[in-house]
Amino acid sequence: MKLKGKIAIVTGAGQGIGRGIAEAFADEGADVVINDLTADARTEEVATYIRSKGRRALVVAGNVTKREDIEHLFDTAWKEMGPADILVNNAGIETIIPFTEITDQQWEDVTNTNLKSEWMASQTFCKRLIAEGRKGSIVNIGSIQAARVLPGRTHYAPSKLAVEALTRNISAEVGSHGIRVNCIHPGLIDTPMISWVLQSPDILPLVEAQISLGRPGKPSEVGTVAAFLASDEAAYVTGQSLYVDGGWVGK
Ligand SMILES: NC(=O)c1ccc[n+]([C@@H]2O[C@H](COP(=O)([O-])OP(=O)(O)OC[C@H]3O[C@@H](n4cnc5c(N)ncnc54)[C@H](O)[C@@H]3O)[C@@H](O)[C@H]2O)c1
Repeated sequence: MKLKGKIAIVTGAGQGIGRGIAEAFADEGADVVINDLTADARTEEVATYIRSKGRRALVVAGNVTKREDIEHLFDTAWKEMGPADILVNNAGIETIIPFTEITDQQWEDVTNTNLKSEWMASQTFCKRLIAEGRKGSIVNIGSIQAARVLPGRTHYAPSKLAVEALTRNISAEVGSHGIRVNCIHPGLIDTPMISWVLQSPDILPLVEAQISLGRPGKPSEVGTVAAFLASDEAAYVTGQSLYVDGGWVGK
């Protein structure tokens, strides 16, 4: 059990990769705070899984692009669960729009969700840990698109490449406090976000041909890597970005 006795906050954990991470953390002995935009049947299912493993689960709805919602998330977690040891910044959105048509609002929606939220939640988490003299670990979720061009993502790709720089820079400033910060760049992972790719008989084979393992990944396959990076087994790993992509970026 890599995360026995730890408390983790996972954003965007109602489905997809966030859910895979929350469940993998419970498998490894962590109590989990499940954040998503709404508390609904999906978040309840994740909570039920976590409780079935004998761990505590708490659902806190909130929009991580809003500073007040982030404060509420951490206040509630601390009050009802206790001080968290791990933060996973997973919430993200992807839209596909030709470069010349993207509006300011569309740019802001994507960059605020994928980048600013990770910066704000990390800052809130680190300020608490430093004030309380506690160590901790952050796992940020980036994307294969930090290194691969997919059309229509001139807003999404920069937001994800920037997560790598965010990770490195935060890690340098908080390392002396015993806080580690790492990043996972997922490849093609079977989640609702990319169901349109998985369901397309034309597109799916083209993408799979670029992946060494020749298949999409499962959310649980990101979850187990996040559990490792968040755990004391990775005690000397910080500021790193790891592609969990079945060998897409390396092919
Ligand atoms: N699926 C992939 O192939 C893939 C590949 C690379 C990177 N990613 C990244 O992984 C992360 C998870 O993606 P996914 O595929 O599981 O997506 P998903 O759309 O299936 O799930 C994302 C979850 O985040 C929540 N969310 C969105 N905005 C939020 C906000 N402002 N506040 C709180 N919650 C919010 C959504 O409600 C949803 O439940 C994202 O950051 C995404 O960019 C996914």
